[in-house]
Amino acid sequence: MAAGANLVIDGDRLVSRLNALAQIGATPDGGVRRLAFSAEDKQGRDWLVAEMRAVGLTVEIDRIGNIFGTLPAGEGAPVMSGSHIDTVATGGRYDGALGVIAALEAAQVLKESGVALTRPFTVAAFSNEEGARFQPDMMGSCVHAGVLSLDAAFAARDAAGMSVGQEIAAHACAGEMEPGTIRPHAFVELHIEQGPILDAEGRGFGIVEGVQGIRWFELTLTGEPNHAGTTPLSYRRDAGLVAARIIAFARETALSIEGTVATAGRIVFEPGQVNVVPGRALFTLDLRNPDDSRLDEVERRVMAFAREAAAAERVEMVVRKLARFPAVAFDADVIAALDRSARSFGHEPRRMVSGAGHDAQIMAGIAPAAMVFVPSVKGLSHNPAEFTADEDLIAGANVLLRAVLRLAQA
Ligand code: GLV
Ligand code: MN
Ligand code: MN
Repeated sequence: MAAGANLVIDGDRLVSRLNALAQIGATPDGGVRRLAFSAEDKQGRDWLVAEMRAVGLTVEIDRIGNIFGTLPAGEGAPVMSGSHIDTVATGGRYDGALGVIAALEAAQVLKESGVALTRPFTVAAFSNEEGARFQPDMMGSCVHAGVLSLDAAFAARDAAGMSVGQEIAAHACAGEMEPGTIRPHAFVELHIEQGPILDAEGRGFGIVEGVQGIRWFELTLTGEPNHAGTTPLSYRRDAGLVAARIIAFARETALSIEGTVATAGRIVFEPGQVNVVPGRALFTLDLRNPDDSRLDEVERRVMAFAREAAAAERVEMVVRKLARFPAVAFDADVIAALDRSARSFGHEPRRMVSGAGHDAQIMAGIAPAAMVFVPSVKGLSHNPAEFTADEDLIAGANVLLRAVLRLAQA
């Protein structure tokens, strides 16, 4: 048996750290609001850095604010594990936080056990995974992996017009390290499923074989505001109507092309009054499919319909691409390490594809990567009621620990 093969995490410590982090940006409904590069995010970052230092990790922060805590051991590139601590505006306690805190817990157990590793182990917390405030999402891991420039990331603006560069400076989120400095030997991420499959099937684990393709758009429609009582329908240039038709068409398209989901998560009508025809409508579209060619077809149909619907109402349309990520297949060896780890605890993991985006899909571009999921009760996520039982959190962290050990001793 390999050294350390019987190690387990400290479940109480894992849960108590999750509780501590959930206090930062806590909302009255039991959720968390730690939007990227906000004051709450900075408080969470400071808490995490202090925890990493208390464990004895060497902390480095790069210019986009990604935080890395390394347990020095062996030589060569580290095994890396982590996730993110930013949340959506109406987030829960586990999305992202679990993956960071479980990796920290693994580092602490490995350090305290004194078990010999052939390579270092790095705990990562990537900036702005959510993209709820600044797009694209997975911003920190994209900059780390070199698929987004620091300048492009700094230039992204939130709905209030604040830029990433301004907010990183205002809240002192950045460090000195050049992004991409730490090239991992392998990357593993523990996350809650955020969907209903594991909970519905009564399974403890999902081994994630890949992530579906994701495309985000912002559509701005400009017509003419006018009186709601006096303007005959044929005179109207109703931007709101066009938005509604496009959103309904996106759902129909999703139903007709297998595996598709389509969401309009944000919409604004202007001037936004009961008796004024909307002169302007701005909304977002999130389109996803595990098959990139199917996603191409979804995008083609929705955009063709949008152009026709806008022209029919004499409304101008501007489309901005906010994010675009291809479907990703994870690495067979890292999947096998997670699978063997789960089986060593007597679990029969289910293989699955992630519906949500994750930093691991970006890290997969520069290192062998894979993920493990634990159940989300009723599949709720991006919701203050997001919940995973402590025993599942602990079991997930144990599977992560043994997979890290396997990868760091290989
Ligand atoms: C990230 O949470 C996503 O939108 O999938
Ligand atoms: Mn997440
Ligand atoms: Mn999320």
